[in-house]
Amino acid sequence: PAPVYLDCDTGIDDALALTYLLHSSKVRLVGIGTVSGNTSSQEAAANTQSLLRAHGSSVPVAVGCRDPLGGSYRGGAPHVHGTNGIGDVSLPAGDDVTSEGAPEMLLRLAREHGTDLDIVAIGPLTNLAHALSLDPTLPRRVGTLTIMGGAVWAPGNITGSAEANLFNDAEAARQVLAAGFTTVLVPLDVTVAHCFDDGDAEAFTRAGTSLHVALGAMLHRYIDFYESVDHVRRAPLHDPLAAAIAVGDIETVTRETALAVTLDGPEQGRTVAVADGPTVQVVVGAGQDTADIIRGGILAAGPSAGR
Ligand code: BDR
Ligand code: CA
Repeated sequence: PAPVYLDCDTGIDDALALTYLLHSSKVRLVGIGTVSGNTSSQEAAANTQSLLRAHGSSVPVAVGCRDPLGGSYRGGAPHVHGTNGIGDVSLPAGDDVTSEGAPEMLLRLAREHGTDLDIVAIGPLTNLAHALSLDPTLPRRVGTLTIMGGAVWAPGNITGSAEANLFNDAEAARQVLAAGFTTVLVPLDVTVAHCFDDGDAEAFTRAGTSLHVALGAMLHRYIDFYESVDHVRRAPLHDPLAAAIAVGDIETVTRETALAVTLDGPEQGRTVAVADGPTVQVVVGAGQDTADIIRGGILAAGPSAGR
């Protein structure tokens, strides 16, 4: 299995993505770094450790950056992800975090695994930008970077034009998108078309393990939020779709695009397609049966599956 470093702001859809990655026999999570976004980097790490414990996994978790580059943590998204980041579902505490910071963990894993190491980033890109400032050669020493973030031709979700992960640290996004990684960007343009509904949450609840029961409760809560804005009881699979694409489980249509990131003003965090500059592969389409694939992977996760 391919070694993967996951960078996340756990987060309800991050929890689903983490579970999907844990179930897969094609990848092996070798480290997880947390960043502030949906909740603080510290709380995201505690959430991640609880989920790993419920799964029966002991992947090392490093706390990453609390504050975005040049700014301060804005307090998360309690209206979307609950006050604790995972829908106010309480889970037993997991192992302690490592003493390493997340950027340092990423650099160490890059040294150990070289271009075999793939990176999956499903939160703001602050840790990756810090790692780049410590070692600008990182992009050519690792494999693929898959990012959930951006709204390239579609509207935003945190503002009319910006997606939350890129909005929460626009400067980090600018640096990472221009750094020369082999990048696959999974933006709102594609994620909003792939959703879970209450039936998926009920399937997790019925599965009966403590992990699945918790995911079911989180998913109902996540759907409550989306119902309040979209008036439909379904929630987009932002982070799990990026995870499944990174694993290679989903067929995609991509468009090679150079992107600029708007740094401030009312369009802060907006991704704008431009004529020149380093390009990324923007995912603009994904197979029809993605929700089935992702649900199946999550249901298959557990102490006896994956690792
Ligand atoms: C992204 O922002 C976060 O709220 C989600 O976890 C996802 O990574 C969607 O815009
Ligand atoms: Ca996330």
